[in-house]
Amino acid sequence: MLNKPILEIKNLRAYYDSEVLSGINLKVGNEGVAILGPNGAGKTTLIKAIFGLVRSEGEILFMGKQIQKMKTHERVKLGISVCPEGRRLFPSMSVEDNLIIAGEEDMLDVVYELFPKLKERRKQIVKTMSGGEQQMVAIARALMQKPKLLILDEPSIGLAPIVVNAIGDTILKIKKMGIPVMIVEQNVHLAFKIAERAYILVKGKIVKEGRTEDMHNLEEHYLEI
Ligand SMILES: Nc1ncnc2c1ncn2[C@@H]1O[C@H](COP(=O)(O)OP(=O)(O)O)[C@@H](O)[C@H]1O
Ligand SMILES: [Mg+2]
Repeated sequence: MLNKPILEIKNLRAYYDSEVLSGINLKVGNEGVAILGPNGAGKTTLIKAIFGLVRSEGEILFMGKQIQKMKTHERVKLGISVCPEGRRLFPSMSVEDNLIIAGEEDMLDVVYELFPKLKERRKQIVKTMSGGEQQMVAIARALMQKPKLLILDEPSIGLAPIVVNAIGDTILKIKKMGIPVMIVEQNVHLAFKIAERAYILVKGKIVKEGRTEDMHNLEEHYLEI
């Protein structure tokens, strides 16, 4: 990480009935960071904690500001945007309506430049699209909020390798626009394409962190994929 972190998490604990995250420390700078881990490790809970959607303790700093006690909408307003697990689109609405409802209309041109296929399909009802196309809509929607940090929760899930590849290329373009990216994945190949650094989360704890180029045989050691 070359510069001041945009997101810094210190000793974060999160709970449902029992503790799910125990003492998480991590940083995201102007870079791509991957959070890898098997099913049930606590990856989505970590994202929920960043947005204040689960009971948590510890420090969450966004651009140096403590946000751990802030309401979800206040955190969003600061510029944290998520492409959530399962996409959560409005399936009966058009592509364009899904985008406009999420953000600022002046971002439409930027988003359509990045996703020319979505511009062609802007009148199409989302539920009639393929899984990969819907995932593109979900990523585009997250961008409509002019994020200062984009968080993606398992964008590859359920998609064919060629589609995952296209999604990876799109996320790389978003990074090139200067938007830091935190990607939660079980797909190590996609995560490493995007991230310079990675944290491995197992049973609510970070068991390994480092530069992705120095990490080998992750699947065997940490991930039950
Ligand atoms: N709403 C919830 N209530 C109670 N337990 C939950 C809830 N959501 C997730 N969990 C539990 O918390 C743990 C972490 O889940 P999650 O963060 O979804 O993992 P991941 O995203 O890494 O697959 C799992 O044991 C899961 O069963
Ligand atoms: Mg999850």
